[in-house]
Amino acid sequence: MRYYKFSAAERKLVMAEAELPEPGPGQVRVRVAAASLNYRDVFMISRFGDVGIDNRIPLSDASGTVDAVGDGAMRFQVGERVATIFFPDWISGRFRSSYAPSAFGGEGADGVLSEYVIVPERALVASPAFLSDVEVAALPCAGVTAWHALFVRAPLEPDDRVLIQGTGGVALFALQFAHAAGVRCIVLSSSDDKLERAHKLGASDLINYRDTPDWHLAVQEITKGEGATHILEVGGQDTYERSLQSLAPNGTIAQIGVLTGFHLRPNLLPLSRLNANIVGIQTGSRQHFEDMNRFIEEQRLTPVVDREFTFDEALQAFAHMAEQRHFGKLVINVAGG
Ligand SMILES: NC(=O)c1ccc[n+]([C@@H]2O[C@H](COP(=O)([O-])OP(=O)(O)OC[C@H]3O[C@@H](n4cnc5c(N)ncnc54)[C@H](OP(=O)(O)O)[C@@H]3O)[C@@H](O)[C@H]2O)c1
Repeated sequence: MRYYKFSAAERKLVMAEAELPEPGPGQVRVRVAAASLNYRDVFMISRFGDVGIDNRIPLSDASGTVDAVGDGAMRFQVGERVATIFFPDWISGRFRSSYAPSAFGGEGADGVLSEYVIVPERALVASPAFLSDVEVAALPCAGVTAWHALFVRAPLEPDDRVLIQGTGGVALFALQFAHAAGVRCIVLSSSDDKLERAHKLGASDLINYRDTPDWHLAVQEITKGEGATHILEVGGQDTYERSLQSLAPNGTIAQIGVLTGFHLRPNLLPLSRLNANIVGIQTGSRQHFEDMNRFIEEQRLTPVVDREFTFDEALQAFAHMAEQRHFGKLVINVAGG
């Protein structure tokens, strides 16, 4: 089989070959159909020297078909369509620090950019039947993160107003979920074209954050001074202060990302004035993924895949992600090319 790995010596991703591995007890071999990229993957590759990822296989999100099962593996049968979960050790209940090293494609575990992967059977969910494998590959990290923020940690209510930063992977799942739940969605983007596309997905209020750098004032104006009840904070240091200034009484900031940098020094005083909350989100559990899949099936939601790449074009996919011109998800069609 062919796969990609980080090479510290060459300071890049390289393609490699290996014998087809056999699943051990409790394990499953998945023939990977597709794998999607998240900002995390681009970030890892930009820090070759800093992180212990030499020889690790990248990417956390895969869809595919069960190809062989090991002794005692009972959850899936050969031929079933599946997706990987982000943390193989986080099945349900509260997060524990001990789950973190299990994350696919991180420092502690190989990822899924491979024609076949061997995974514990617990690390899989069934694919929604109506979605293609390319669409399913979009779900594990970005989809579950948005779900966790909007339906688990601060569940949406009918009058809510969700502020979504940008039009990347997490953002568009949040838009699709919140719109399907019937709440008002305000979207920020650097591009009027992307805002128009977000409008077609259900965004009612559109703000270009390049043209309107004080976008918190626009959010307050749009909401008649009440603010946004849910804010998906993916920007980090350049957006956090304005997120706090956009927040509604009793509202929640879901602290998710660091697209503009890690050095946050926000003034948190508005939280007490507003009786408001910040919740930290780290993807989600298998239970969250399964609950999300039920919602996706009921609502017939199709993930937004901006562009597909072939397996041979994997490096181009990483470069394209780094350019930040995409709308939604970028997916490598592993089996198709
Ligand atoms: N905690 C978790 O579990 C978790 C899970 C997934 C992702 N994340 C983090 O969340 C962030 C987003 O991840 P992703 O995979 O969705 O990224 P992505 O697909 O690369 O999304 C990037 C988009 O964010 C928007 N953006 C960039 N700077 C912005 C700013 N100053 N204000 C508003 N929007 C801005 C841009 O949208 P426009 O092009 O429309 O301007 C950009 O295209 C990353 O920091 C990632 O590490 C965390």
